Amino acid sequence: MARYTADSKERVRDAVDMVALVSVRSELRRAGPSSYQGLCPFHEERSPSFGIDPAKKVYYCFGCGASGDVFTYAMETEGLDFVAAMEWLADRFSITLEVEAEDEGAAERRKGRERLLELLDRTATFYSRFLWDSSEAADARTYLAGRGLTQETLQTFRVGYAPSAWDTVLLASRRNGFSELELVAAGLASRNKERGSAYDRFRGRIMFPLADLRGRTLGFGARAMRDSQQPKYLNSSDGEVYHKGRQLFAADLARAASAKAGRTVLVEGYTDVLALHQAGLHNTVGLMGTALTSEQAGALARLAPIVDLALDADAAGKDAMLRAARVAAGQRLELRVVAMPAGTDPAELVASEGAEAVRARVEAAVPFASFQVQRILETANLSNGEGRDIAYNDLRNVLSGVPPSPSRDDLVRLVAGRLTLSEQLVSLLVAPPTDPRPTPTSDSQTANKLPPRAAVVLDRRQQTERNFLALCIALPEAGRDALRSVDLDQHFTSELTRRGAAHLREHLTDPADHVAPDDTEMTGLIAELSVRGSRELASPDTLAVELLQLEMARIEREIASARSSGRLDIATLAAELNTVKAEFGDAVERATSTRAGQ
Ligand code: CTP
Ligand code: MN
Repeated sequence: MARYTADSKERVRDAVDMVALVSVRSELRRAGPSSYQGLCPFHEERSPSFGIDPAKKVYYCFGCGASGDVFTYAMETEGLDFVAAMEWLADRFSITLEVEAEDEGAAERRKGRERLLELLDRTATFYSRFLWDSSEAADARTYLAGRGLTQETLQTFRVGYAPSAWDTVLLASRRNGFSELELVAAGLASRNKERGSAYDRFRGRIMFPLADLRGRTLGFGARAMRDSQQPKYLNSSDGEVYHKGRQLFAADLARAASAKAGRTVLVEGYTDVLALHQAGLHNTVGLMGTALTSEQAGALARLAPIVDLALDADAAGKDAMLRAARVAAGQRLELRVVAMPAGTDPAELVASEGAEAVRARVEAAVPFASFQVQRILETANLSNGEGRDIAYNDLRNVLSGVPPSPSRDDLVRLVAGRLTLSEQLVSLLVAPPTDPRPTPTSDSQTANKLPPRAAVVLDRRQQTERNFLALCIALPEAGRDALRSVDLDQHFTSELTRRGAAHLREHLTDPADHVAPDDTEMTGLIAELSVRGSRELASPDTLAVELLQLEMARIEREIASARSSGRLDIATLAAELNTVKAEFGDAVERATSTRAGQ
């Protein structure tokens, strides 16, 4: 794989005309001294909430939360990985890329890895031929056909069959010049513990190759043919190229369709992916039975901003979805939930209901908030006051993060009915807990617009933390002091904003230049903060308001934790909160009067 120099990357960045780049997809208008705005290329909207800063070459959408630099822009609009995006931009803006000169060790390692990839690719071809040509695989062919999978689908996925002998792949690979060591490193052979001799890891199984985004085979999932064969799925062992939990199955095949549709369907298993692709849902990828990892969430975020979860609807599956939502919260991913009958997977559903019905189910996926509300109502004990209080609080946490929309009204009505709430409590359900600010940025940007996509709407804490950091960038002098005065652990609630604050303490005047090249999360955050900051009415007074907001949020969290752990200093904390609230009121006053006087 080509490794381009860091300098190449910067030359591409310098050469890109951000306005020209974005104008291909969206008509831009000037919106301020250092910003343009237009309709967001990443979500449907009728009035513009997509902002770019053409000097810093970053973008941020106030509607859907998409943010990044020229590279993430190309990755996401074109469905490319980083290297391909760099090549695409270099081509458009006439830059010649330079390949990194490698030291000898690095060159050796890369060659070694390339040999393993070649070995894996040849083995995938071998298994696939064996499935279609050998008499030994006749049962496997019958079995797969019985599951409704066509030869075309199976060949697209390079599904194969591993012969039952102990040494077929071993011998064939040796003949092709690969060593035993390489076979073990590729995860294709295991070693006998006593004798140290190697043997084929996969025998008598249906083989699903797992590929990276570029379609290179990294390993295999191998399905048993009979119940007596355990485990049901045997995966490549973790090695130099295969790492369980890092990849999504079929990301390579789904990439273009996901980018085009703006969404990805996420299912549990290999056969689910095949069945949905065959049913026309080419934007489907598989989790391969693991709990969603943050690496996988990152990979999903690069495919498309929306994920339709088509996971099992049993209790374990529902918990898995809530866990997935927590992992996805770190990425700007909007999750939707596909209604699935408990105990069935999408492959079975395609077989029993047909492709059309399953497509309709996916189409009707509901926002994650609806799923959460239903889940809370299902599991709550609504028969006593305490249970209803707990449920009310949980529901409020969910609903106050949902932007106003007809579907939110439906949820509120549902909740009001089930909990038999007074009108006052109903109105508090969706009200942000504290926010007397006259015109919060996000509202002023999105007023009269289509409701933004739900999950990327930041919760209030995140709004506060990000507004604060944005103002620090916009007002570097006052910002430096403000950043020094906060406590990273106590004032920031997500790993990302915490890291962002630490980064800004060091690089407040040129934050984008110091982000590690592969830290796309940080690149996105800095982009967002820069665009936010260039839109904000930035003054030391508004910064003071944000700082006090952070402090109030901190004390509120402290009170909540004191309450749940039965600590006795709640009164002290409450008094502290009141003092800060009073200061906050004064600060808002000052900020609005200077604003009016401008
Ligand atoms: N899995 C695994 N190891 C196992 C069991 C499962 O890696 N021992 C992963 C596989 O990726 C599998 C997924 O978890 O596809 C879901 O498991 P399961 O529902 O048991 O299998 P299905 O995919 O439904 O397989 P099939 O439809 O052939 O029964
Ligand atoms: Mn299944």
